[in-house]
Amino acid sequence: MPKPTDLPVWTQLQQHADALHDQPLRALFAADSERFQSFSRHYEQLLVDFSKQRITADTFALLQELAQQAEVPAAIERLFSGERVNHTEQRPALHMALRNRSGGPLWFDGQDVMPEVHRVLEQMHRFADKVRSGAWTGYTGKPIRTVVNIGIGGSDLGPKLVCQALRPYGDPMLKMLFLSSIDGAHAHHILRRCDPETTLFIVASKTFTTQETMTNAVTARSWLLAALGHEAAVAKHFVAVSTNLRAVEAFGIDPGNMFVFWDWVGGRYSLWSAIGLSIMIYLGHERFYELLEGAHALDEHFRHTPLTDNLPVILALLGVWNGNFLGADTHVVLVYDDYLRSLASYLQQLDMESNGKSIDRDGDPVSYATGPVVWGGLGNNGQHAFYQLLHQGTHQFAADFLAPVHTTDPVGGHHSILLANCLAQSQALMTGRTADEARAELSAQGLQGEALEALVPYKVFAGNRCSTTVLYQSLTPRTLGMLLALYEHKVFVQGVIWHINSFDQWGVELGKQLTKSILPQLQGRAAPTLQDSSTQGLIDYCQRH
Ligand code: F6P
Repeated sequence: MPKPTDLPVWTQLQQHADALHDQPLRALFAADSERFQSFSRHYEQLLVDFSKQRITADTFALLQELAQQAEVPAAIERLFSGERVNHTEQRPALHMALRNRSGGPLWFDGQDVMPEVHRVLEQMHRFADKVRSGAWTGYTGKPIRTVVNIGIGGSDLGPKLVCQALRPYGDPMLKMLFLSSIDGAHAHHILRRCDPETTLFIVASKTFTTQETMTNAVTARSWLLAALGHEAAVAKHFVAVSTNLRAVEAFGIDPGNMFVFWDWVGGRYSLWSAIGLSIMIYLGHERFYELLEGAHALDEHFRHTPLTDNLPVILALLGVWNGNFLGADTHVVLVYDDYLRSLASYLQQLDMESNGKSIDRDGDPVSYATGPVVWGGLGNNGQHAFYQLLHQGTHQFAADFLAPVHTTDPVGGHHSILLANCLAQSQALMTGRTADEARAELSAQGLQGEALEALVPYKVFAGNRCSTTVLYQSLTPRTLGMLLALYEHKVFVQGVIWHINSFDQWGVELGKQLTKSILPQLQGRAAPTLQDSSTQGLIDYCQRH
């Protein structure tokens, strides 16, 4: 696979970006009344409008050419055919198998992985049904009322996002809690909300060695045993989800209460696997399958749709255009849907852990920007907090607005006000306000002369800030599955273009190792090893105080 900067089209895109510099978005809209039709695409319940991106028909054609020259279609086929695309760990990335609802096979190393996928799905299905119906009881015979998922990173963010997002579909009798941080305050406040007799803990960890998860699991276990007084209670209140059978056994969880998944599922791609057990318990198996079906539909779209209409490919190309040619180094996710309040955090891991890389697939340092800083949150709240920077700050960014056309909670006129805000913000970012317009407005408010002129510069909005708007008709399990798969594949395509491995995460290792050398010193169990003076000074301060 080629390096992007070696592709002829890379230089063409650079020249094109320079030429486009003087054409504000406003002018592009004024010149073409069909711009929305040209630069938006539908797929099932999704509408993706990218007409507010700083592109022309030429840009779009060049970006398509970039996807061709970077051999994106061949890379998609390699992904789906189970090649070891994660070359540093010698693994495929077959999360699409977890939601493959076609009845057909998916192969890895000459073996169809689907029978195992179905086996675990059925095991989850049986268990979830038992918990939901009350047939599975706690040690003292009471039904489960609280489910605590203990996990971090991909073993937390996905299940938490989906349970929050699909709350209207969840069992109202079940309280869903997510314990992730090593901060004891998190365990303390979660456990305070639990009744030991009616709580089920799901210890979710791909490796079953993650310090935060294992420590929280031990704490939860001691808490349970202190309350219920018998080792046998563990089997009724703890289940494990992992790829590591030995570690699960060593922890003391009965392998019969274990749900497996496989090395070819990356942590941040794992909510579709047994890591989604909390989701299935909360929503029931039918809704969980609908979530999988939505993601599968998007997988099919991604695999079979020509590049010009292929939503993940389009989003990926726009990200490359913004990041590598227009100078945007952050990507802000602006969500006008309270149910998706955790989406930005989820996408942060998906994108930044996948594409936050600076060594390419040949082991060479890259000479171009790769994954952006991803941030964001609830758009309407953001308007009253951080949007000032978006409208008038000095940073270049790309934005995604997301909103549902229909709300699940029709309260008064709230929803149309919410949508109006969403549409107004992307419009304001795009059009901005000129000095003349600012002047006219101030004068209409009765200001004149020096007082008016002094205010004009502050009232000007440069505009020309680009965004994509993703509308979905309503947030159902199916649409959520589609949305999440859309972003997964976008991240994959960008990794292909940047010639990096989106499926490893070596950058998380060093901090974990250093923690192990600092911890014994902080606990006073070891003599100081050679730390730099800052780290040693901080350790000393903690110990003194
Ligand atoms: O430290 C990063 C990471 O490995 C993520 O990639 C992963 O999602 C998370 O930790 C949790 O890992 P595990 O599921 O193995 O506990």
